[in-house]
Amino acid sequence: MRYMPMARVQTGMALGQDIYDGEGKLLLGRHLILEDASLEELLRLGFTGIYIDDEFSEDLTIAQVVRPEFKRDALEIVHSLFLEHKNYSMEQDNIQQVVMDVLGDVMGNSDLMCNMLDIKTYDDYVYFHSVNVAVLSTMIGTACDMNQEELDILTTAALLHDVGKRFVEEDVLNVKRALTEEERIMIVQHPKLGYEFLKDNFDFTPEVYESVLQHHEWYNGCGYPLRRSGSEIPIYARIIKIADVYDALTSKLPYHEALPPSEAVEYIMANAGAEFDPDLVDVFIRKIAMYPAGCEVSLSDGRTAVVMENNEEYILRPKVKVIPTGEIIDLKKDDSARNLTILELNL
Ligand SMILES: [Fe+2]
Repeated sequence: MRYMPMARVQTGMALGQDIYDGEGKLLLGRHLILEDASLEELLRLGFTGIYIDDEFSEDLTIAQVVRPEFKRDALEIVHSLFLEHKNYSMEQDNIQQVVMDVLGDVMGNSDLMCNMLDIKTYDDYVYFHSVNVAVLSTMIGTACDMNQEELDILTTAALLHDVGKRFVEEDVLNVKRALTEEERIMIVQHPKLGYEFLKDNFDFTPEVYESVLQHHEWYNGCGYPLRRSGSEIPIYARIIKIADVYDALTSKLPYHEALPPSEAVEYIMANAGAEFDPDLVDVFIRKIAMYPAGCEVSLSDGRTAVVMENNEEYILRPKVKVIPTGEIIDLKKDDSARNLTILELNL
């Protein structure tokens, strides 16, 4: 399986993974041979790229931190929380189950990095985003050696962090221009609205509510709604803040194109100590692959290659497979590759 930007996806290519909509419903299944209609559908929904299977990438399996079916369950649950409701105690059980599943996978794969680009539809951003932020936050928490109880709070709060957006009109969430003052006021209310909604309808530990409330606080005290700073902000909220911004920057949104992982990490590093907790930023950057597996890169000798495997200790020197020869080069181990570097990620 390998990643293909939509501009290079062609009819006849085989889909390398199941593609879901924001409700967790299957849109297109793995192995499907893409035709004009399915291609148009993918473009209409705002996908920026997909994973495909081809002969060249046959030997390339991408290890995923959380299995796709758990992510799908999580999508379904977050989506249902945005609908007018019904039976919240049942929802609580569903949330706890999905949190356990995600947590189990992240803990079991603690050696893995965030290695895949997320395949999401544009309109359903908030649901995909919630699930990604949950996975990324849990990865950071695991790397910080949090215990099971702490991770449970973290994953739950991360999954639910933006639920207050259910009270903000969709037109306001999706505006493609600078916000008016009135719209800005509506949006900045979502942490508080989410906090109240969860507190009134669910029975989680108070740290879950507090962390949802404070996920837009800044480390230097310039965030909202309480303008807390440093360790006054719960560690869960400080972690969610990093995962939230990383996922937003690497997504195509109404007001910006998707940034490659390196540029999103650059932004987060540049704002460590201001927006973000610098110690947590140090942990976070070790978990993000600059060159995700399956992606095409340009090498310094003019060749292009597909990334096969990343190494946490040498994030700029993964193992790659050269196009079209199939030569495999381990940029970390191979002596012959000592002078070879990756110039850029071709997204
Ligand atoms: Fe938010």
